Amino acid sequence: MSKKLITNVRAVNEGRIFDADVLIEDGRITRVDSEVVPDGSTEILDATGLYLIPGMIDDQVHFREPGLTHKADIASESAAAIAGGVTSYMDMPNVMPPTTTRTLLADKYALAARTSRANYSFYLGASNDNIDQIRALNVHEACGVKVFMGSSTGNLLVNNPDTLEKIFADSPVPVVTHCEDTPTILANEKTFRAKYGANVPIAFHPHIRSEQACFKSSSLAVELAQQHQTRLHILHLSTAQEMKLFSPAATTDKRITAEVCVHYLFYDQNDYRDKGTLIKCNPAIKTSRDRDALVAAVNEGRIDVIATDHAPHTWDEKNRTYFKAPSGLPLVQHALLILLELYHWNRLSLETIVQKACHAPAQVFGVKERGYIREGYWADLVLIDLNGGYTVNEENILYKCGWSPFNGHTFHAKVWATFVNGEMVYRDGVLLHALRGKRLEFDRD
Ligand code: DOR
Repeated sequence: MSKKLITNVRAVNEGRIFDADVLIEDGRITRVDSEVVPDGSTEILDATGLYLIPGMIDDQVHFREPGLTHKADIASESAAAIAGGVTSYMDMPNVMPPTTTRTLLADKYALAARTSRANYSFYLGASNDNIDQIRALNVHEACGVKVFMGSSTGNLLVNNPDTLEKIFADSPVPVVTHCEDTPTILANEKTFRAKYGANVPIAFHPHIRSEQACFKSSSLAVELAQQHQTRLHILHLSTAQEMKLFSPAATTDKRITAEVCVHYLFYDQNDYRDKGTLIKCNPAIKTSRDRDALVAAVNEGRIDVIATDHAPHTWDEKNRTYFKAPSGLPLVQHALLILLELYHWNRLSLETIVQKACHAPAQVFGVKERGYIREGYWADLVLIDLNGGYTVNEENILYKCGWSPFNGHTFHAKVWATFVNGEMVYRDGVLLHALRGKRLEFDRD
């Protein structure tokens, strides 16, 4: 039996920051106390000066397998995830072929069982014609059903109103949505094409993928969910206006929850000047007013979850002109560091970061025995040096695409070590074990 004791650490968990010793036995946390006395067989890790948090559960990543492995794959991106303190992830279905059947979903689980360093779950993708597959889902078979209510990377748009109704009425698992109204976007595109031709400046991306497009689609999702009592989770909200659609109640009391991603809390439209199409994503990063409203909504509780929408594309693809550059940016390795930067700027507390990035995804999806520092739970843990300093460079970027919008950036904090299922899998810049992540399980009836 393997025993490890993390001693003298500052734990952040369930709204509290406290001194703790944490005992790990056979993959699970077995004691959390102010002092735990080790026996002779216990490996001791003195974590004086460090903070301990539950591993981040990222409910929105694109690891690109199968079929798009020139951009990324499960092995590469799950390595980047653990280096960034993300110990579990939920992966999206816009791959090749799109994950729209239960058989394709099963294939992905089999692939991840062989190659994933972090814990994993997969979404079934909704299309205009796979309602039978959705209805047949067992509640443990997928973390959720992903509905592209606006078109984005891939071809999974669900624009048939009858199908949408059926999905919202009948999905046995949470419905997660990408909300942008495609007709509004196409009309905006036409206007800007008429003015600039094929070379629309990237600064107009938030005018094309506009606030109106987001609000129209998010409002429809909320309306449908209210009508059908759906367990709805709206992904990557990007505007101040949408915040009025959500209540500041506790996440565990809601049937409609909201997610924001780290880049919408960090960047604003001024960043297109330096970063250009590298930060082109859908929905678009909008104004500083929107960014500030999103931070406020996180603090008020209108937004429940903070995730990444980690969406790698190759450097060459991203450096094309506006219409040709695909949307999405790689983030999973630096998401926690971005959030801790917001802590250093007094925008988010440590307790709030842990609530939104670790506890809340477990609450929204009913993830079993993860997301907290609790006795009996799996030991998915991250040690953080709040002032360790970490500079992103080409040598330490682990994404298969080999680039990051943060290349050259120095963060205040540093991920010092990551544990997945009780094993230290990353320490001070080094990946330690090719440990396999486990499939996420759900407390659902
Ligand atoms: O920017 C984005 N990229 N938004 C999405 O919805 C999809 C993602 C991707 O898969 O590249």
